[in-house]
Amino acid sequence: NQAIPVITLDGPSASGKGTIAHLVAQALGFHYLDSGVLYRLVALAAMKHAIAAEDEPNIVAMARCLNVSFVDATVQLDGVDVSEAVRAEICGEYASRIAQYPTLREVLLDRQRNFRELPGLVTDGRDMGSVVFPDATLKIYLTADAEERARRRYKQLIEKGINANIADLVASLRERDERDSKRLASPLQQCEDTHLLDTTGFSIDQVVNQVLSMYADISTTSQL
Ligand code: CDP
Ligand code: CDP
Repeated sequence: NQAIPVITLDGPSASGKGTIAHLVAQALGFHYLDSGVLYRLVALAAMKHAIAAEDEPNIVAMARCLNVSFVDATVQLDGVDVSEAVRAEICGEYASRIAQYPTLREVLLDRQRNFRELPGLVTDGRDMGSVVFPDATLKIYLTADAEERARRRYKQLIEKGINANIADLVASLRERDERDSKRLASPLQQCEDTHLLDTTGFSIDQVVNQVLSMYADISTTSQL
């Protein structure tokens, strides 16, 4: 299935990966995979069973038998809609701690690669271009400065009626980004074949159009 186009968006937390990837997929009629949700689902399942983040063997066992389904726009764990629960900051924090285990990453590899179906896939995460889809058609590293990312996350939480504090968010995003970038297994990094897109000060529409135009350029060149 290497002929099936893939666009990867990797980057730090709250850089807009999910929002942009979803809209780009919609515009192209492609499938969409939010890889972070898989790590968040393992985190949620582990927390429910009171498994400590340090307990690697049980975390991996949990991931092996994870019963997940994507129904319409919802994510279900064991048949229960957990779309809201997985977005909680505590889930992202726990996910980032267990995402350091190479054994867990290995278990999730095929699950992610199975999303590569015609007519194409847009996916976001930390290692989508570097490890999961190294032969992707277009690889983007999406970022924005830490304060802007914290403001974006703050707005998102307040709109959902969840209490938040900008200073705490800046600190927690920084800590998570540092852990995700410094780990040995599939760290978040900007690779040579990745296009850097700094979205500080840019609207969602502007970023979506930029990604679509980069993809159009590549598609035209490859047809020449
Ligand atoms: O997936 P990731 O954590 O990277 O970010 P997200 O959840 O897609 O985006 C975080 C928030 O930033 C969302 O509320 C987006 O609407 C917003 N955003 C923005 O304001 N401007 C952009 N250029 C991109 C995203
Ligand atoms: O939305 P946000 O960027 O805050 O987080 P996410 O993409 O849902 O990912 C949650 C955590 O899962 C990240 O902090 C990473 O530690 C981990 N993750 C990963 O290691 N590799 C991926 N491809 C996606 C997420």
